[in-house]
Amino acid sequence: MRTIIEPFRIKTVEPIRMTTVEERERLIREADYNLFSLKSEDVLIDLLTDSGTSAMSTMQWSALMQGDESYAGSPSYYRFEAAVFDLMPFKHIIPTHQGRAAEHILSSIVAEEAGKGAIVPNNTHFDTTRANFEDVGIVALDLVTPEAHDPELDYPFKGNMNLEKLEALLEAEGDRIPMVEITITNNAVGGQPVSMANIRGVRKLCDRFGKPLIIDSARFAENAYFIKLREAGYQDKSVKEIVREIFSHADGMTMSAKKDSFSNMGGWLALNSDEWAEKARTRLIMTEGFPTYGGLSGRDMECLAVGLEEVVHEDYLQYRIRSIQYINERLDALGVPVLKPAGGHAIFIDAKHMLPHIPPLQFPAQALAVALYLEGGIRTVEIGSLMFGRQPDGSEKPAAMELVRMAMPRRVYTQAQADYIVECFEQMVARGTDQITGLEIVKEPRSLRHFTAKLRPVAL
Ligand code: F0G
Repeated sequence: MRTIIEPFRIKTVEPIRMTTVEERERLIREADYNLFSLKSEDVLIDLLTDSGTSAMSTMQWSALMQGDESYAGSPSYYRFEAAVFDLMPFKHIIPTHQGRAAEHILSSIVAEEAGKGAIVPNNTHFDTTRANFEDVGIVALDLVTPEAHDPELDYPFKGNMNLEKLEALLEAEGDRIPMVEITITNNAVGGQPVSMANIRGVRKLCDRFGKPLIIDSARFAENAYFIKLREAGYQDKSVKEIVREIFSHADGMTMSAKKDSFSNMGGWLALNSDEWAEKARTRLIMTEGFPTYGGLSGRDMECLAVGLEEVVHEDYLQYRIRSIQYINERLDALGVPVLKPAGGHAIFIDAKHMLPHIPPLQFPAQALAVALYLEGGIRTVEIGSLMFGRQPDGSEKPAAMELVRMAMPRRVYTQAQADYIVECFEQMVARGTDQITGLEIVKEPRSLRHFTAKLRPVAL
């Protein structure tokens, strides 16, 4: 088979700047060994997140000019609503400025109905989803399939919900459960997909116990493409048909349009329930804006509508999934311990295995992220004990996994840049990784410390 190439050519370029190792040593020291504190101009390849970092198409840029900025009833809203409805035919579509704003509105409605002590099960809550539920006194419970816990296991749908556990929970605690949620793809376990059979299984349980099903849909197109590739019976269906089937099983969705809509900003909440939608719109007016713009400008809604059409193109999705698999395979061949199989939006490296000489509370994944920046100006993110270690009682506990996430922005980097990333690992491995040292915290805030903590290398 021929190489799967980028299905686009480049019209506008954004220069990136190479720095020297000496410069990077100074820059990371000045950033207190926290990659969030670096200036993005000092980063060559930025893999911190795939959120809001997509390249927009010529069609999206030209759609911007059609933005109608009317406060109420803007045609841009109706174009946005029609584009969402084409893929996700929910009764009510409510724009928000990003995904977590939709989560905030949903969690406040659910808490009002269910009261404190309610439980919301999910295959795995994303951080902001969890934080929004916990903030209103709801227990956010993760019920992912056990295959997700083995980084080496090549299983096609590691993002799935554990249906046995969900059934047992609904039987035991049904009265406390106001809704069930599924996150596609399952970001927190490595961007792993959820199968249609699993979604149908969750729907069946929701019907039996009379619960609404909401989908956290940030990477819905990547999930649908994995279903096409891996699930029997879907090979001849279009991604659009698969997307429609996914959402036909749900009662609502929250969306971060910063991922699978190629937008730099945006999101929405969609619901079938008239009662929940009315409450949501009331809250929306208080916190985001009038229901025909939410937190968005007319031009944002225009380019979001175009992005939604583009993201289900199969040549794009083939390139997207393949470009991530390609880096995963090459790193695997070098002996770098990557999470398998490759997820939809990122490559995850198991730093506990790569740097076994660094104890968990000296943050091996952060140490690896720093080493990668020093090696080649690549910025990644730690998902390990720096992010999760501090417990609510103030104690420190190692996280289950010490991962470095390399999230690929959509349509941004070329294959030569992918090869460059692999070469940086190659050189790091060839030189030996034993001299990479652990880190200690000098200063940290009370919560969400990974964003702003100051660190330094431990004294040898
Ligand atoms: N749900 C999932 C699965 C996400 O990955 C994110 C964001 C959100 C919800 C929240 O959406 O950022 O628009 O408010 N994930 C980003 C990331 C930040 O880097 O994985 P948002």
